[in-house]
Amino acid sequence: MSENVYPVPADVAKDALIDNDTYLSMYKQSVEDPDGFWGEQGKRLDWIKPYTKVKNTSYDYHNVSIKWFEDGELNVSANCIDRHLETRGDQTAIIWEGDDPADDENITYKQLHERVSKLANAYKELGVGKGDRVILYLPMIPEAAYSMLACARIGAIHSIVFGGFSPDALADRINGSQAKLVVTADQGLRGGRKVPLKTNADAAFEKVKHDAKMLVVKRTGGDIPMVEGRDVWYDDVVGPASADCPPEPMNAEDPLFILYTSGSTGMPKGVVHSTGGYLLYASMTHQYVFDYKDGDIYWCTADVGWVTGHSYIVYGPLANGATTVMFEGVPTYPSPSRFWDVCEKHKVNIFYTAPTAIRSLMGAGNEHVEKADLSTLRVLGSVGEPINPEAWKWYYEVVGKEKCPIVDTWWQTETGGIMITPLPGATDLKPGSATRPFFGVQPVMLDNDGKEIAETECEGILCIADSWPGQMRTVFGDHDRFVSTYFETFKGYYFAGDGARRDADGYYWITGRVDDVINVSGHRMGTAEVESALVAHPKVSEAAVVGYPHDIKGQGIYVYVTLMEGEEETEDLRKELRTWVRGEIGPIASPDLIQFAPGLPKTRSGKIMRRILRKIAEDDFGSLGDTSTLADPAVVDDLIDNRQNR
Ligand code: PRX
Repeated sequence: MSENVYPVPADVAKDALIDNDTYLSMYKQSVEDPDGFWGEQGKRLDWIKPYTKVKNTSYDYHNVSIKWFEDGELNVSANCIDRHLETRGDQTAIIWEGDDPADDENITYKQLHERVSKLANAYKELGVGKGDRVILYLPMIPEAAYSMLACARIGAIHSIVFGGFSPDALADRINGSQAKLVVTADQGLRGGRKVPLKTNADAAFEKVKHDAKMLVVKRTGGDIPMVEGRDVWYDDVVGPASADCPPEPMNAEDPLFILYTSGSTGMPKGVVHSTGGYLLYASMTHQYVFDYKDGDIYWCTADVGWVTGHSYIVYGPLANGATTVMFEGVPTYPSPSRFWDVCEKHKVNIFYTAPTAIRSLMGAGNEHVEKADLSTLRVLGSVGEPINPEAWKWYYEVVGKEKCPIVDTWWQTETGGIMITPLPGATDLKPGSATRPFFGVQPVMLDNDGKEIAETECEGILCIADSWPGQMRTVFGDHDRFVSTYFETFKGYYFAGDGARRDADGYYWITGRVDDVINVSGHRMGTAEVESALVAHPKVSEAAVVGYPHDIKGQGIYVYVTLMEGEEETEDLRKELRTWVRGEIGPIASPDLIQFAPGLPKTRSGKIMRRILRKIAEDDFGSLGDTSTLADPAVVDDLIDNRQNR
């Protein structure tokens, strides 16, 4: 890994919100006196009833409990909209850029207020109230942001399901959260192609046992059936609704949203985020990590189906009164210049994307970047997976013209906001390193026995020693699972699931997951989920799934399948299995390489030795380790002989 150091560019240092000395002193206070620090920072938000208590948290695994600002009351939608009306009612809140470059819209804070209030009243009319769950299964259209904020306004809890997920995955989430309402669209539009959202939602509803309604936004005008008594058009209920909807006072600890995410075992779990601590953390990280200042045009290219879209397209930026760009399309449509054309068109100052997008656009050639005027860019961001130094340098030199710091932000669905990151005016950069902790975040490195490593320079398991306001509060409906997943393996710490290296300067370098979670194009996936989809296929007897290095995606999905007796190993069956997994989970889970394996390496007690499967998939046959404990060591040679090529 490169250890070149890139100092803070002089132009950025001049006007930055935080310099290195300020970072060091604020960080020190944040960990030495969390009550004082966060008590003060909490004032960034407008409180209906001010808090008198700040931090009340316990990582004791017998009694894990996380509460921040627990006696305060506020409303997230009022913080993201109403409080800006007086000073910036006519300022653009959301710049929407459609899939087709000719399609765009600017939505002011005043308009946002009206549209969200009307929708919130429409929700009420549909029987949704405080504490009820609403599933959002939407394309990247302004209605997605309105739907989130309208839930927040009346105290309903939203749970967004990424538009690329299958009907089955959607059904699991509707059932899991017992949602009263699903908001969707007739069809989505991505890269010129239609996504059959309503058709998928109809298929999902066949598996829904309880009473739920569907609210349908007209996006493409595609021909879709509506079910009498269950489905209603968005415009039909929102159009006539009143624009007067006072924000519901919410306790700081009331849930704001649920977001399902994959873990190493079992099915995805519903991560629950809070109202007060989450919003404070999203807003503060958005301001400091991106050095956001009034008037900046800010663009995060994520989808609201992922946590990045929640915290850094909607909640963080709007709480700060920013202008946030919301993009419906994909980086390569209609051409690989699209990102850069949009930056030029909307005069973007801060740009936040994922390494997988950077790598694919790097491969498309510099000419696509060079023909755009990118002179407004000031800060670049990266999120979702480790960024390789080559992609980092291309981003820095070709996109940022060596004048924009890159904030490589490490965090997770569970953390609510950015945890380890450079600050543009404070941190010298090293390509590939997420660098130093944000205020209040105390990373520690543990060895395999769970002992803290004292030396600065080391490699180990990344854990966090104490709570921060944006931390998830529980797993929806299953607090025990929350405790066992994050607090039991290493007692007294939050276990993030990542490994890391800490260098002599105390900089963190995330090395990737240490559990059975893989990261495909920045999308997190449990190998267990893909395996359970595969074994549900009638021709599959057993399956094991691992990640392998992939040039563009970061990690690809490598599948080993053992077929049922008498089934033939054919190319057609490989295709069939791919289609099957796409149908069960969604296109993002589609296997890249499928190896038919008559036998899998198992211990004598029948446990699959994934370590060996991982090494074979990685093409790293030299370090398979000890295979003598296998029930049948000969299967390893067969697996090596039949390894699939990239
Ligand atoms: O492995 C880490 C990786 O993404 C995981 C979290 O995935 P998810 O919950 O989907 O959230 C993604 C967006 C916040 C982490 O456990 N990850 C995320 N950011 C980075 C990263 N790995 C290395 N460097 C990063 N900057």
